[in-house]
Amino acid sequence: MLHDGLPSLLDELARLAELPLERGETLPARAYTSADFHELEKDRIFRSDWLCVGHVSQVSRPGDYVRVDDLGVPLVITRDEHGDLHALSRVCRHRFMDVLPPETTPDQGSLKRITCPYHTWTYRLNGEFAGQLAGAPLMNKVEFDRAACRLPQYRLEVWHGLLMVSADPDAAPLAPQLTALDATLAPYRLDDLVVAYTARWDGVPANWKVAFENGSENYHHMGSHANTLDRIVPGKDTVVDECEGRGFSMYTPFAPDMEIPQGPDGRELVGTLIPGLGLRQLSGMTVAGVFPNMAMALLPDSVTFVRWVPTGPLTHDALVTVLAPAEARQRPGFDAYVEASRQQFEIIQAEDLVAVRGVQRGLATDPAPSGGRFSHLERPLWQFQRYLAERLAGVGAVTP
Ligand code: FES
Ligand SMILES: [Fe+2]
Repeated sequence: MLHDGLPSLLDELARLAELPLERGETLPARAYTSADFHELEKDRIFRSDWLCVGHVSQVSRPGDYVRVDDLGVPLVITRDEHGDLHALSRVCRHRFMDVLPPETTPDQGSLKRITCPYHTWTYRLNGEFAGQLAGAPLMNKVEFDRAACRLPQYRLEVWHGLLMVSADPDAAPLAPQLTALDATLAPYRLDDLVVAYTARWDGVPANWKVAFENGSENYHHMGSHANTLDRIVPGKDTVVDECEGRGFSMYTPFAPDMEIPQGPDGRELVGTLIPGLGLRQLSGMTVAGVFPNMAMALLPDSVTFVRWVPTGPLTHDALVTVLAPAEARQRPGFDAYVEASRQQFEIIQAEDLVAVRGVQRGLATDPAPSGGRFSHLERPLWQFQRYLAERLAGVGAVTP
């Protein structure tokens, strides 16, 4: 049963989506606190729209799998012997056990078949039979249609090397909706990069949109990251591209007097450059994002993408994946580079979490604050409202 408050909240969202950026206002605070609004987001966004769930290098060889829980349903991405990828439900068709439970199986690995650990029903992973039941012991004394028993498949697209999944069988193809980002991303050749490391922050006490919005603007560099990022990529120098639809991008040139970050031993913390980058990519940072919940920072030596996955109206998990050139892994200093990069990221993330938690406290005050105004650097947040209005309130159409 929905509270009376939800229709008025959606009306307000529809009103905001009509405003030009020059008069744009923040979302109503209740959009970050309401359980009803969050139920609608789960239904119309996370269980139906395209979500980024990983990178192709996590399933590079036949038999590889990676577990995915971003959609709110248990999934596994597999690669078959022909090289094709599949997004399969992890819900066993017997009594619905998670066939790859995180308690006993690694997040990613390699398998010939999936055997449910509960009563050992086994599922195929090869080609056209992916998800098909291969064996179910002691089921021969009952009427049982083995041929009809199969793990459900979900939609999957690879977009610039990123694994994108949708639980809606009728979702419009994703890539044509994101063509505005193709030229920006192409030089980094994301398909050829590999995962250098992952990190996660579970149970962050803020609505997922607070963190996504924080990751979608560089305006806060001058505040939150005044002594760190802002010295390398000053927020004030960011130019935000005039994107429409569900993707955004921006570019910040490196500060002219930027100090190259040093490791504890005084060596420069620069990894292997991504091959083939042009002067523009070598001279600054690109930030690009895809609604609803992924943003990435593209640097000369790495690409970091973050997914903010809701775990309730007031909490989320932040999942970080750092990509680097494959050849970087062969270098002798790679482990030290990864360790230094991880430490740097933790410092930046700690700074961001102060803001993310602090904004959520502000949003939760009574009476709720409203009518915050955007800088021109917050264009992606204004654009995000149009996306939300289309998905949640059925307003307008997000044009590619
Ligand atoms: S629930 Fe999977 S085999 Fe019984
Ligand atoms: Fe930040």
